[in-house]
Amino acid sequence: MKIEMLVVFALFIIGASAGACEPNETKLSITRCDRVCHSEKKLCAERGSTQMCFCKLGFQRLINDFGAPCVRSKDCIKCDENKVYEICGSDCPEYCGMPEDEVCDKKCVKGCFCKEGYVLVSEVSEKCIPRSECPTIY
Ligand SMILES: *[C@@H]1O[C@H](CO)[C@@H](O)[C@H](O)[C@H]1NC(C)=O
Repeated sequence: MKIEMLVVFALFIIGASAGACEPNETKLSITRCDRVCHSEKKLCAERGSTQMCFCKLGFQRLINDFGAPCVRSKDCIKCDENKVYEICGSDCPEYCGMPEDEVCDKKCVKGCFCKEGYVLVSEVSEKCIPRSECPTIY
C-alpha cells in the first residue's frame, strides 16, 4: 500500500471514531459520569461499558439521558414550577379531563412538560397540578 493511501485510511479511522460523538462530547473508554443541568445526581455510564461519549469539560447534560445534548451551564433550561425539560415529550400532553381515546400522532417534541404525576389544568393551560387534584367534571 502506498503511503498516501495509509494516511487517508488512518484519517478515515480517526474521523469515523471521532464522528460518533456530538461536538460537545468526547469519547472515553473509562467509565465516567456526566453532570446534569439543575440536578444533584450525576448521569453515570454502566460499569463495564466500553467506549462512550461523555460531555466535554465545562459541559453538562441538558437532562438525565445520554441522548440529551451537552451544553454549558448558561444554556441549561429552567422550566416553570412542576415542570421538567424533555427532549422527547408528547405532542399532546395529558390534561385534566382529557378523553382516554384522544387521538394523538405521538410526535416527539422538546420543551418543558409536567413532571411525573402532574398534568395540565386544562387543554389550554400552561399550569401543571397533581393528577389527583384535577377537578371532577360531571
Ligand atoms: C454545544 O454547547 C453550546 C453551548 O452550551 C450549545 O449552544 C450547543 O447547542 C451545543 N451543541 C450541541 C450539538 O449540543
